[in-house]
Amino acid sequence: MSWWKPAVLYEVYVRSFADSDGDGIGDLSGIVARLDHLRGGPDSLAIDAIWLTPIHPSPLADMGYDVADYRAVDPVLGDLATFDRLVAACHDRGIRVLMDLVVCHTSVQHPWFAVAQSSRSDPHRDWYIWADPAHDGGAPNGWLAAFGGSAWSFDEATDQYYLHTFYPEQPDLNWRNPQVAAAIGDVVRFWRSRGVDGFRVEAFNVALKDESLRENPPPAGPASLPYGHRQYPLWNTDRPEVIEAAHTLRRAVRKGEPDPLLLGETYVPMERLGGYLGNRPGEAFDLVFDFEFLYAGWDADRLRFVVDRAEGLLPAHGWPCRALSSNDNPRHATRFGERALRAAAVLLLTLRGTPVLYMGEEIGMSDVLPPPGVSFDRAGRDACRSPMQWADEPGGGFTTGTPWLPLGDTHRINVSDQRADSASLLSLYRRLIAERHGSRARRRGPAEPRYAAGERRLRLSPRGGGR
Ligand code: NOJ
Repeated sequence: MSWWKPAVLYEVYVRSFADSDGDGIGDLSGIVARLDHLRGGPDSLAIDAIWLTPIHPSPLADMGYDVADYRAVDPVLGDLATFDRLVAACHDRGIRVLMDLVVCHTSVQHPWFAVAQSSRSDPHRDWYIWADPAHDGGAPNGWLAAFGGSAWSFDEATDQYYLHTFYPEQPDLNWRNPQVAAAIGDVVRFWRSRGVDGFRVEAFNVALKDESLRENPPPAGPASLPYGHRQYPLWNTDRPEVIEAAHTLRRAVRKGEPDPLLLGETYVPMERLGGYLGNRPGEAFDLVFDFEFLYAGWDADRLRFVVDRAEGLLPAHGWPCRALSSNDNPRHATRFGERALRAAAVLLLTLRGTPVLYMGEEIGMSDVLPPPGVSFDRAGRDACRSPMQWADEPGGGFTTGTPWLPLGDTHRINVSDQRADSASLLSLYRRLIAERHGSRARRRGPAEPRYAAGERRLRLSPRGGGR
């Protein structure tokens, strides 16, 4: 059985996990110092793998998802030697290490883009997606960027527009060019040789776009997933050919056995998700996030519906992968309310599939709104990225300096107090993970739904019709 099937994964938002040098920003040494919380220490959670958000040099237009150098570590976070130390320390404890792999775009400051931009005839030009202005000089078509505005920006020097699915500082790589896949394969091998066990491949559903740049139709109803609210992204999202690109990516990263884990961030409806897993294990992605689960809300009927959809629509070799919170969405403590957190933990950690925890959810951290005027993320996601609340002390045990984003209420919610309390949410997470690891049935399924028809309605009856 693949290691990741019975595993519990844990997303570390690197800048907010633990700061070792007092500059207020989490870093790699900070993670090393806090590994006891994750596995191998007294009362640790015993997760199986961490996924690190991007650690590369970046102008931070999208908080690191705009990579300027794939083979280096942002000096604010550490260096390659510290990274090696982190991987070794994790492996010593039985924690595997996953990195974010940003493949759909680079930073405008990446040397690949600099040369591509230098002239229309540069050999790297075709690593990105360029198009002539429309007749009126405007953008080549009306495609919108995920966070608003046109998906095109004009490059005056070469008189063409370049495409960016996200911010203008993130030019899209051209996955129709085989050199791009080969270059990303090299990046993967670079990190594999340093011991990295797998990758969360971001935004892959937008890796390919219609070559003739056909216009998107208007939205035809409420979007079930993000990015579909203002226009129906028919021609620049989840194109049928992207499945072949997922195969190409797998071939590009392959380096003998065992293959790295490829966990896809593919924001598509469940009907389409299975395609990204290929026709057999190891052909494309190993796992893909079920975003319908993350967006279901705290609604029993809706949750049951999306869990059933995953069970029914994933291919036979598929395996569900679910999270309730992430670096991109309001935390579920904020969305569901604190009273739901124990039941939510039981749900996430007992369903068949690979659960992905988001750092801090194990103690019930909520979103923390930055004060007016403080904003790092233009898409408004700072609140779910607040620093880890380790202890009830100045800096929250996160830093001895001033945290880059404000801390939540560390007096009420912190790791240290919950570790000492066997009735805490943290202790529940720990017990659920231990139970999961100890139970073959919980790890492997199969999942068979047991419907409790009407139960929810009866329980919620205002006239007291509960059982
Ligand atoms: C996925 C990342 O999680 C998100 O934070 C980022 O904005 C998008 N990819 C675009 O890079």
